[in-house]
Amino acid sequence: MSKSQFGVIGLGVMGKSLSLNLAEKGFDISVYNRSEGDEAHIVSEFIDTNNAFKTLSGFTTIKDFVLSLERPRKLLMMVQAGAVVDIVIDQLLPFLSPNDIIIDGGNSHFKDTQRRYLNLKEKGIQFIGCGVSGGEEGARKGPSLMPGGNLESYKGVAPILEAIAAKDAKGQACCTYIGNDGAGHFVKMIHNGMEYAEMQLLAELYALLSQTMNNDAIAKLFSEWNNSDLSSYLLEITIDILRKKEGDDYLLDKVLDKAGNKGTGNWSSKTALDLGVPANIMTSALFARYLSAFKDNRVQLAKQLIHKKSKGKAPDLNALEHAYRMARILNHHQGFQIMQQALEAYSWQLNLSEIARIWTNGCIIRSQFMEDAILYLKTSTDLLSHPSIFKTLEASEPDLLSLIQSAMTNRVASDTFWSAYNYWISMTTDRLPANLIQAQRDYFGAHTFQRTDAPLNQFFHANWTHL
Ligand code: 6PG
Repeated sequence: MSKSQFGVIGLGVMGKSLSLNLAEKGFDISVYNRSEGDEAHIVSEFIDTNNAFKTLSGFTTIKDFVLSLERPRKLLMMVQAGAVVDIVIDQLLPFLSPNDIIIDGGNSHFKDTQRRYLNLKEKGIQFIGCGVSGGEEGARKGPSLMPGGNLESYKGVAPILEAIAAKDAKGQACCTYIGNDGAGHFVKMIHNGMEYAEMQLLAELYALLSQTMNNDAIAKLFSEWNNSDLSSYLLEITIDILRKKEGDDYLLDKVLDKAGNKGTGNWSSKTALDLGVPANIMTSALFARYLSAFKDNRVQLAKQLIHKKSKGKAPDLNALEHAYRMARILNHHQGFQIMQQALEAYSWQLNLSEIARIWTNGCIIRSQFMEDAILYLKTSTDLLSHPSIFKTLEASEPDLLSLIQSAMTNRVASDTFWSAYNYWISMTTDRLPANLIQAQRDYFGAHTFQRTDAPLNQFFHANWTHL
């Protein structure tokens, strides 16, 4: 029997879609899924349903699956991030040979990927931690792929990964070698942090607009924006969501207002904290999700409110458009700043412009701004240092303020827009009250301070009680 060129482990939604994408591109594929319990028929059903693809072979034992692959073996794990990844690697190891390549396409934490990369390297096995973005449709039609690991091992799988990836405006694959060990999963994690913020900005706009507009009217406004430089995949799907009806009712109105998460937004916020990057927009978006989960408390407390909300005043739609643009630019700036810091902290050669390029299609945060970011990031990795971006932000400041004021008047929480505003104000303020923080630290802990009237390499301590 001829051997398969590539293997996929895990026939969940993403594993199935990627397998079909691979088969469609003409690769001979082996797929494996365990067959315990309610997963007994997953493999056979998948093969039967897709019998149009003659290049698909299904397996329910790891050994047969591994032995069905040509050497060096190349296999992609699409299993749940966390302990399952280690379990599957342990199951694979007895049957693998030196130079075989394992790709982890799940949303693994980059530090787990670094550990697995080193462990497997000792055993002569190549490990690639590959960010995969685009959800089910992306996986089937072309995801954005962020592979990290050893460059040589990437070259071994590049023709396959690049064939199944989405294509950018110039027809190039939205897949590029990101960097060593956990770099690929790191970049995917930051993608998700930015995704949380992009989603929450839209949610806050929806909350504010729905004070005075119905879902169709909001969708109409968003469609206008989506025909401009503000266009993005997330805006596009939000328009569909707003318009979806169930009978006479909007389906969205019946969706419970408790947001879930699988952890990547949490990891990106923690990483920003670890690296000292003030990425307050994604952090606010994360906290907004956490807060939404306190549904019962919210319902209880809302009942106790004495002053019921009066019908809100319609916000200035022009101002909202400018404010949204501004907050999005700042979110992108913060995301790229985390990657810029990581580049130094982890000695990765991250090419931010190239990362923007592979995020222009296939992934969840693809947008017109991402197209523009390719060029901006070529000359400076600090988006705020670009005069045209700075000009846009400065001109939009009153509009962001107007959005916040309108949200306050309407009693609509808008943490993410507030964070964007505060970030912008602080970043453009030459003297912050951090002098008082330093004085307080010195007062109670003799932590010392620098002076504005002395060289910065000198540190002072004062007796603050002695007036
Ligand atoms: C993507 C998405 C995808 C996903 C995550 C995050 O790029 O395709 O980011 O990876 O939606 O599962 O989801 P949570 O919102 O559940 O954290």
